[in-house]
Amino acid sequence: MTVYANSPTGPVDWERFLSQRAQKMKSSAIRELLKVTQQPEVISFAGGLPAPELFPVREIEEACNYLLRKEPKRALQYSTTEGHPPLREFLAATVAKYGIQHGPDNILITTGSQQALDLIGKVFIDPGTTILTAEPTYLGAIQAWRAYEAEFVTIPLDDHGMCVEQLEETIKEKKPCFIYVLPNFHNPAGTTLPEYRRKHLVKIARKYDLIIVEDDPYGALRYEDDDITPISVMAPERTLYLGTFSKTLTPGLRIGWIMGPMEIIQRLVRAKQGADLHTSTFDQMIANDIAQRGILKVHVRRLCNVYRQRRDTMLKALETHWPEDSSWTHPQGGLFLWARVPEPIDTAQLFPKAVEAKVAYVAGVHFFPYADGGHNAMRLNFSNSKPELIELGIQRLGGLLDAELEQTK
Ligand SMILES: Cc1ncc(COP(=O)(O)O)c(C=O)c1O
Repeated sequence: MTVYANSPTGPVDWERFLSQRAQKMKSSAIRELLKVTQQPEVISFAGGLPAPELFPVREIEEACNYLLRKEPKRALQYSTTEGHPPLREFLAATVAKYGIQHGPDNILITTGSQQALDLIGKVFIDPGTTILTAEPTYLGAIQAWRAYEAEFVTIPLDDHGMCVEQLEETIKEKKPCFIYVLPNFHNPAGTTLPEYRRKHLVKIARKYDLIIVEDDPYGALRYEDDDITPISVMAPERTLYLGTFSKTLTPGLRIGWIMGPMEIIQRLVRAKQGADLHTSTFDQMIANDIAQRGILKVHVRRLCNVYRQRRDTMLKALETHWPEDSSWTHPQGGLFLWARVPEPIDTAQLFPKAVEAKVAYVAGVHFFPYADGGHNAMRLNFSNSKPELIELGIQRLGGLLDAELEQTK
């Protein structure tokens, strides 16, 4: 059938109907770029993906079969917005070991921690509300909060995470609503905030009566040294703690959670009702089954062993193959490190050449809310490639960097 542009049945100019908010929403630069890097022959250090060969497929299959046999009427039904009660009880008991004094009623299950970030935006951000974060920072948070028309103020990050010594000045001047912090194995920087910096952050947040959003998707993936006290233990009255099974079990289940004071959890529950009523009952019950049967604990131990080896392979390959003036962070856990290349090289401009050479990364600039930094940096993921490919990919990048440096001489 022919459709005429000016006829009542012709194409609609959807742009004309968009809200101002929607007009400002951008697709994540990283999502776009990941499409390029998914060609099979490219060694990709770009995504934040866990190793798919380690997914506990058989255990998940067993959990599905068990639930469909034993509890199909519950597993396939609508459930409460707050989340599956046994899973919330499990999470409360787990965090108690870290000293977090929250019961099941302080926990809201979310559809990944990405939804937690979105709900926080919905509940706290009016157009122009200011948020304080380190830079670089997690791009997904920026994307979620930009949709609510947030403004961002940033302070730098060094090899020990957010430079909290600069918080007070910035807070006095910019009056943010909350501080967004990634204390463990930062995405993208791989850094960990030491205890003295956490304490200082809490002191300042209390002095200026600010709330803290502690995003901790990688905390369980620690490859050396001891856990550091979470900020939510130091300041339970003003911290919202975000967790997820995406990196410790599988991201496809989309199970995350927010923990915090009950009155604000109840507000977040209302915000979630309008978004998706509740997170998939079946997925929550699968995650709960895996967690309650002790499989998760064993699985995380296995992940740590494999990822530790991949991290070490990457660190060694960088030492061997990269030019002298480069540097990088030494993550104690998580999935990423942050590498800085010699000054004249712009990692965003180098990217097409890297893809041509069959290796990919994310250029540093993508992790700066206003794209005004990170020009000579890149994020490298070490969890998703096997050691021999890590070695080869880092060697390819090293060759490219050498060639660029030659040209700038
Ligand atoms: C810092 C951080 N927060 C939140 C998320 C979102 O995770 P998910 O929605 O899969 O739980 C990610 C994912 O990579 C992340 O790195």
